Amino acid sequence: MRTSDRVSLCFSLLLLLLLLPSNPSEKEGQLGGLGGEMPSEECADRVTPQGSLYRELPHIINTDGQYLFCRYWSPKTKPRALVMIMHGAGEHSGRYNELAELIMNESIFVFAHDHVGHGQSEGNRMVISNFQVYIRDCLQHIDHMKEKYPGLNIFLIGHSMGGAIAILTANERPNDFAGVMLIAPLITLQPETSTPTKVFLARLLNYVLPNIGLGSIDPNFISRSEEEVKNYINDPLNYHGSVKVSFAVQLLNTVARIEEILPKITWPFLLLHGEADKLCDINGSYHMYDTAPSKDRTLKVYTSAYHVLHKELPQVTSEVFTEIQKWIVKRL
Ligand SMILES: *[C@@H]1O[C@H](CO)[C@@H](O)[C@H](O)[C@H]1NC(C)=O
Ligand SMILES: *[C@@H]1O[C@H](CO)[C@@H](O)[C@H](O)[C@H]1NC(C)=O
Repeated sequence: MRTSDRVSLCFSLLLLLLLLPSNPSEKEGQLGGLGGEMPSEECADRVTPQGSLYRELPHIINTDGQYLFCRYWSPKTKPRALVMIMHGAGEHSGRYNELAELIMNESIFVFAHDHVGHGQSEGNRMVISNFQVYIRDCLQHIDHMKEKYPGLNIFLIGHSMGGAIAILTANERPNDFAGVMLIAPLITLQPETSTPTKVFLARLLNYVLPNIGLGSIDPNFISRSEEEVKNYINDPLNYHGSVKVSFAVQLLNTVARIEEILPKITWPFLLLHGEADKLCDINGSYHMYDTAPSKDRTLKVYTSAYHVLHKELPQVTSEVFTEIQKWIVKRL
């Protein structure tokens, strides 16, 4: 064992000893046991973190028995395809209302849910035991909608961390999706936040202090539109707290997984990314575009735009909306 390893091991054991007695665990999130599709009797009064009754809201129950709040945008005419929207870290599906309406207006059925630990879904805020839970829940929702609307093409839209979820979801069933649209997806981490030393420290910290906060998302990095920054700050369904080290480590693992699958991606995709994005490095999108062997792939770069392109300055957002609409309609 090298000296540095020994030192870090001692350091972590010391921390562990210091912290164990005062830190009586945070594992209240698992509710377990329910599993089924229908809410059982005893859960008739189950409420969202905001106190609304689930039985009065569209929801699914994931395989851990957690209730997930859902949204559906159903066109007046017979749907021509299905689109699932996957939101990003710390936000919720309600922030996609306009984009969903735009797509619904093309006679497409749009659906979404708040991921575990987000918005009006159950689960500890922005805590995930394994990133795969997000993907598993999305596949469950997709299967549910496929049963309701058999024979329709399915598209995915993912933003930020939701982009990573979309990539990994499509990867589970590479032949099942007609296309994946990625708005500023999480593919690589900022080089300055993922130096080997910081990655090592994050993993070490996660071992002893998984719930320690690393700081929160700076709302000014969301968009250049002041109004959108204000909306983001004032939305009580967004998470404004600190990102826990355990969450950051899940993202590190996820980025590593994506790196491995990029050379195997064959499904059609559209990448949209702001050149000045400070939350998800645009290099990730360049990298995906260059690495994935998909024949049908498009990358659109928005000069000077920040992270949330669907809530950016009006000119950017309207271009992004048109791009998504055109892309999907062409592939129906
Ligand atoms: C969808 O269509 C309705 C009715 O035509 C229209 O009022 C609305 O603005 C459209 N929504 C979007 C986002 O294009
Ligand atoms: C993106 O990648 C290029 C080339 O690999 C590198 O020079 C540049 O610093 C990267 N930019 C960021 C923000 O990481």
